[in-house]
Amino acid sequence: MCCVFCWRWFVQYCVADQQEDDGCADLTNTTWQQYRQRAKLQVRYLLLTRNNLECAQVFSQGSLSKTQLPPYFNTSLKSKVIVHGYRAMGSKPSWVIDLAQALLRAEDVNVLIVDWVYGASFAYNLVVESYKEVAVQISVLINQLQKQGSKLESFHFIGVSLGAHVSGFVGTLFEGKIGRITALDPAGPMFKRADTFDRLDPSDAQFVDVIHTDSDYFGISIPVGHVDFFLNGGNDQTGCARSKFASMYGYVICDHMRALHVYMSALNGSCALTALPCTSYEDFLLGQCVDCNVFKGTCPVIGLSENSGISVSPVPKEQKVFLITSSSAPFCAHHILVELEVASLDKSAELELTLVKGNQKTHKTVYRTVLAHQAPLCEIDSIIMRNTGARFYRQAEVHVRSVCLLQLPRRETPLCVNKFDVRRGVPWSHDLIQVCN
Ligand SMILES: *[C@@H]1O[C@H](CO)[C@@H](O)[C@H](O)[C@H]1NC(C)=O
Ligand SMILES: *[C@@H]1O[C@H](CO)[C@@H](O)[C@H](O)[C@H]1NC(C)=O
Ligand SMILES: *[C@@H]1O[C@H](CO)[C@@H](O)[C@H](O)[C@H]1NC(C)=O
Repeated sequence: MCCVFCWRWFVQYCVADQQEDDGCADLTNTTWQQYRQRAKLQVRYLLLTRNNLECAQVFSQGSLSKTQLPPYFNTSLKSKVIVHGYRAMGSKPSWVIDLAQALLRAEDVNVLIVDWVYGASFAYNLVVESYKEVAVQISVLINQLQKQGSKLESFHFIGVSLGAHVSGFVGTLFEGKIGRITALDPAGPMFKRADTFDRLDPSDAQFVDVIHTDSDYFGISIPVGHVDFFLNGGNDQTGCARSKFASMYGYVICDHMRALHVYMSALNGSCALTALPCTSYEDFLLGQCVDCNVFKGTCPVIGLSENSGISVSPVPKEQKVFLITSSSAPFCAHHILVELEVASLDKSAELELTLVKGNQKTHKTVYRTVLAHQAPLCEIDSIIMRNTGARFYRQAEVHVRSVCLLQLPRRETPLCVNKFDVRRGVPWSHDLIQVCN
């Protein structure tokens, strides 16, 4: 009993410690020195709702008694639980409040931010050892909230990196009965070969959606949810290339954090981030996957819609879905399949194709490929093709049998231009007159 009492006292002491002058709480800020002094797992929660968008309330299960909920927690609303991951040197994840506010703009919910700074700031392998302990503590809170009237299925966990596996283990503790887990680039190192008990998997919640952006480094390369979105193939993100201006840390973390930024942008709802199911990104780029028939025609969309917008039941498991994004917010792009047929003699010809809408251009040397454009196909004004083949190989023109464009997922018949020649040095162009339905 004494220990429980002391622990409570400790938590409350710390909470008071962190409360700012205006009564609003923030994530624990820690220095190495403070950290060494009390290097203990400490879990606390920040609550944000539409009634306190700018001013988080802090609490811990220690301070939650049967009769007392944090004032703004409304048990008849759904709850979002944000779980951050590893924190380099205790640095405060500045995005957490932004994500909470984006969620609140999208839905009237309780947003709980799990703050587990001390545990998360140690060496990565030791943090990995403590992630289940964090999950156990969160499960105590969920049990308490359940007693006060919250339904298990009304909880939606959003876990970033290692936080995804913390969420997964909370799901395991509740035997998959929590409503949803959204994993934003779930951590890969030490998890890829782990048993499903030890990592996030589809049995952890009624629906698990996952965004992969750094599968080859910090993220996990295998599908771990019901629907797994692999952005630009899931490894390297556009706009994250090494630049002399970016710090090494910024460069390394850019791919990993892209999942979060894309998710926040999706919550803003300015455009749909729609993906197509396929076996691999290579096949996707080759135009082998053009519809969402495995989901009865509904394509998955990143964001809050139920089951990511797919309406097939039962929901498939570990389904890889692919999309191309642009390099900055709002990240959306339209997928356009380009098919080019040339006379057989011209097989090694090289053509560059440009789709023009106003002054937005997308170009690529193609035979059959999926490319991304800011505008949907119905808004494309013209196609331009250049003969870029090696000079020594072919001085003459390329005989094109047809070039066909198709917006994905496939709904209409392709838009084709037939029989024309593209001469060296003279771009071929064709204006399109179309209307969007
Ligand atoms: C938190 O840490 C940052 C950087 O380490 C520092 O600039 C800031 O003043 C700290 N804030 C508080 C409230 O201690
Ligand atoms: C809790 O949410 C319900 C449903 O939106 C609403 O009717 C009720 O007024 C809220 N209660 C409080 C105390 O805000
Ligand atoms: C979302 O919208 C808010 C308010 O309109 C804006 O401040 C924020 O930058 C947007 N975030 C993203 C990621 O688009």
